[in-house]
Amino acid sequence: AAHIPVLCIDGPTASGKGTLATELAQRLGYHRLDSGLLYRLLGLAAERAGIDTRAPALQQPGCAAALGQLARELPLRFEGQQVWLGDEEVSAALRSEAAGMAASRVAALPEVRAALLELQRNFRRLPGLVADGRDMGTVVFPDAALKVYLTASAEQRAQRRHLQLMAQGIPATMADLLADLQARDERDRSRSAAPLKPAEGARLLDNSEQSIEQSVQQVLDWWQVCNSGPNGPAGCL
Ligand code: CDP
Ligand code: CDP
Repeated sequence: AAHIPVLCIDGPTASGKGTLATELAQRLGYHRLDSGLLYRLLGLAAERAGIDTRAPALQQPGCAAALGQLARELPLRFEGQQVWLGDEEVSAALRSEAAGMAASRVAALPEVRAALLELQRNFRRLPGLVADGRDMGTVVFPDAALKVYLTASAEQRAQRRHLQLMAQGIPATMADLLADLQARDERDRSRSAAPLKPAEGARLLDNSEQSIEQSVQQVLDWWQVCNSGPNGPAGCL
């Protein structure tokens, strides 16, 4: 699969990774991997299976192995915009902050990350892939042609998440959102298994003051430069 180009977008929550990745995949005609969705699905599957993902239950012997097993057997199915977990349509449930928090708890377990690795790499198909998450450039696709680390101020990100939730009719206060977001970023950055950090060679993009279109153009410019270099689509790392 080494010849199939991958463009990675990693960064903290609500920095705009999903929006940017969707837009890039559409314009380049590439496949897309929303890796966070897989961790959210696992968090939800654990809840449905009656597995407590909060401390201290998570630290109990056997819990990590059970979650790894669950990750390998995830009965997931995508149908257009719909996401199915077994016979339940879960796309709305997956978007909640609670699902994000549960995702971040199970995502700290090495057993879970190992179980989801191959599933993620299987998304690498011609003509190419845009992948977003926390460890796309550091762990899952270390040979990606272009790695972008997307950030924005915590206040901007909480504001964006607030607008997003309000549009979906999900109640949330700015104070709660900011606290949740900072707690989740802290857990994602400080864990020992695939912590959130810029990959080596990643281009940093702070979009606090940027429109989505400006970020899209910036990444497309970088992509253009990568692909016109001496290594062709092998990239510019
Ligand atoms: O995937 P991630 O959690 O990083 O973020 P997202 O769901 O793509 O973006 C969070 C929200 O921020 C969305 O509603 C975007 O439309 C919005 N956004 C924005 O207002 N301005 C930007 N420059 C980027 C994203
Ligand atoms: O949209 P948002 O950035 O808030 O979250 P997400 O991308 O859906 O990810 C939810 C959680 O899954 C994150 O807080 C991470 O703990 C975890 N995750 C991860 O560990 N590795 C990834 N590649 C993607 C997500």
